[in-house]
Amino acid sequence: MTTRITIRRPDDWHLHLRDGAMMRSVLPETARHFARAIVMPNLVPPVVTAEDALAYRDRIEAALPDGADFTPLMTLYLTERTEPDDVQAAHADGLITAVKLYPAGATTNSQSGVTDLKSVYPVLERMAEIGLPLCIHGEVTTHDVDIFDREQVFIDTVLDPLLRDIPELKVTLEHITTSHGVDYVREAAGDIAGTITTHHLMINRNHMLVGGIRPHYYCLPIVKRAEHQQALRRAATSGHPRFFLGTDSAPHLDAAKETACGCAGVFSAPNTMSCLAHVFEEEGALDRLEAFTSLNGPARYGLAPNTATLTLEKRDAPAIYKAKYDTPDGPLTLFDPGHALHWHVVD
Ligand code: DOR
Ligand code: ZN
Repeated sequence: MTTRITIRRPDDWHLHLRDGAMMRSVLPETARHFARAIVMPNLVPPVVTAEDALAYRDRIEAALPDGADFTPLMTLYLTERTEPDDVQAAHADGLITAVKLYPAGATTNSQSGVTDLKSVYPVLERMAEIGLPLCIHGEVTTHDVDIFDREQVFIDTVLDPLLRDIPELKVTLEHITTSHGVDYVREAAGDIAGTITTHHLMINRNHMLVGGIRPHYYCLPIVKRAEHQQALRRAATSGHPRFFLGTDSAPHLDAAKETACGCAGVFSAPNTMSCLAHVFEEEGALDRLEAFTSLNGPARYGLAPNTATLTLEKRDAPAIYKAKYDTPDGPLTLFDPGHALHWHVVD
């Protein structure tokens, strides 16, 4: 039985770091295990211009603990006013790694997102020309579409037509949550990859809703039926180069989660690697953990994999993680997988 594995240091291809005091509280948790992360731009106000991204990157770098080996990979938030030239210049300067598409109203701080996709085609066409990836929150927001169907309807009615219109566009369909998403990413003719979160591999909608409602499991896209969780597990552990880790670790204060109208988001950065080793061991695929966390993502983004390593060891004693993190503005709850984690990150 394998009880110790060493993999190249992982990267997180979808992360929310927030800003200010919250950022200072959560950034060290990601920097401890991850070498790079694609940083989401849904601040208030959002990161829409190259100038915004530069200033945000400076704030992140200033908040890094001394000696941390971590590079933030910046993104721009696509709006109907985004200028193709601004995007191209930010890419040429090496400032941004991707552009993020939020359908307006899809999730936290997505009010400035895109309502009419055709209106951003000039930006998307430019991105296709220069090889800059588009990260997509793939859910429709129309009120008549059931929240559990929003990903599938998005793929069929928005994403597939988009990839037909602009076949050279490099797309990352983020945080896929359904077997439909898995099948689409694996088989689509377009230049597409998909990220999968830690929590969607570990929980399904029963965990969120049976025996009481668990607000810390509420996220978007919402967790689906167990059969979809199984499809995600098969995809993540398959080693297929189109699937890789994007934790979507998305901290919100407990006060914003444990309330009559709670925010969507799961904070999983600190214990993600222990969770993933647990999942990959359960699926008999520990030998493919490195592909998911450390190889497929860099290959997709045209970057070298990290040379530093991370070692995980399985011990009888469970790994201890704090259930709650104190921030200056109040407590923040860590993702609870609902059972002990025996894989420890040892160096
Ligand atoms: O659960 C989520 N939280 N999904 C998102 O798409 C956004 C994120 C956040 O920013 O809190
Ligand atoms: Zn996200």
